Amino acid sequence: MTTAWTRETWRTKPIVQVPEYADQAALKAVEHRLGNFPPLVFAGEARSLKKSLGDVAQGRGFLLQGGDCAESFAEFHPDNIRDTFRVLLQMAVVLTFGAGVPIVKLGRMAGQFAKPRSSNTEIIDGVELPSYRGDMVNGMDFTPEMREPDPERLVQAYNQSAATLNLLRAFSQGGYADLRKVHQWTLGFVADSAQGERYQDLADRIQEALAFMEACGINSTAVPSMRETDFYTSHEALLLNYEESLTRMDSTTGRWYACAAHFLWIGERTRQLDHAHVEFLRGVDNPIGFKAGPTIDPDDVLRMIDALNPDNEAGRITIITRMGAEKLQEHLPTLIRAVEREGKTVVWSCDPMHANTEKSSSGYKTRRFDNVLGEVKSFFDVHRSEGTHAGGVHFEMTGQDVTECVGGAQAITEASLGDRYHTHCDPRLNASQALELAFLMAEMLKQDRQASTAAAVAS
Ligand code: PEP
Ligand code: CO
Repeated sequence: MTTAWTRETWRTKPIVQVPEYADQAALKAVEHRLGNFPPLVFAGEARSLKKSLGDVAQGRGFLLQGGDCAESFAEFHPDNIRDTFRVLLQMAVVLTFGAGVPIVKLGRMAGQFAKPRSSNTEIIDGVELPSYRGDMVNGMDFTPEMREPDPERLVQAYNQSAATLNLLRAFSQGGYADLRKVHQWTLGFVADSAQGERYQDLADRIQEALAFMEACGINSTAVPSMRETDFYTSHEALLLNYEESLTRMDSTTGRWYACAAHFLWIGERTRQLDHAHVEFLRGVDNPIGFKAGPTIDPDDVLRMIDALNPDNEAGRITIITRMGAEKLQEHLPTLIRAVEREGKTVVWSCDPMHANTEKSSSGYKTRRFDNVLGEVKSFFDVHRSEGTHAGGVHFEMTGQDVTECVGGAQAITEASLGDRYHTHCDPRLNASQALELAFLMAEMLKQDRQASTAAAVAS
């Protein structure tokens, strides 16, 4: 039998990946201040996202989730926010064209600041200091002062999230996302690349279609959805004291919502069933996800679903697999079969980043474009043979012209990784690589669509 949930019951459970704050009174004071700050998102928005994800779970949509591995205070700039937003928009347009289904756009933005680490400390030249856990906890520089967890950083992360979200709302609702601007979303450095040209061709075709529709009296004045888009935010729910402070009761339904983001997920390292992170997330009504690495088995998946979604509500659960192409081929079918056998409704999403991290010969942490693509392909293949819906993808990416992942049409080499390597944590796809992946995925989605149309005609 499950016991009653409150915003604080997670505090009675075992927990991993929490920073150790020297000054607990200062931490308490910050939690109290955050508790009086306005919510960043609203319950109704989280419900809309859940509804859209419910459609995805039932095969009528595709989830595109992406953004930084870790947002940072140093890179906080409107241009960076705009650039990531517009690559996501471009990818969504490419995918909509391929899949012919609505694309649910979900940023790893406006709150993705805290990182789980494989070790509590880091040793460099015999000096041992606490690991960097994201700008929301401590600083990246390897000095005792910077590595000391500082509660004030929670407030700075809140403020940056609020400002980021404000800009994202303006971009998505204020005219920037108008489909008639489809040409203008191209980023300077991508414009001259093969991906840029391919995108411009597609934008030409969209523009032609819009001219035709305009002639028929259908335009963005008459149809607001052509002028604006729904864009949602997400992050890993790692620092539960922060999430708790921003969890509020929705006055219209009496239910609790985590109001620091529309969607929260549980990371691979914090998904223990009897631990704090599962306890906290089970009680909020947002759409949520959990990562599923190569060691998860079908029973673990079913137990997670039972704990987090006992009523089997569509759109509530997104399972984000991150196994690497080979392990995915081996394990995903058994997970899918268990979920299907038990009649559970979930969105299956593929994170092709986190099992494909390696150290390059030049010493940088990197990912190979081909391995990322390979995992996405395996994901589509498995779903095709199981007869289930490949529901979405989860990328670490940026609109910046960085050199963090090797390969892709730009052919970034290991030797050139140092040119523009800016990530605060894991290597991200740059705008050109992200767009290239979107085109390749659009082809896979198109094949799936054609196969299901053919099957429907034959039956
Ligand atoms: C992440 O998404 O940045 C992350 C840490 O992933 P995972 O929990 O899958 O390792
Ligand atoms: Co990461």
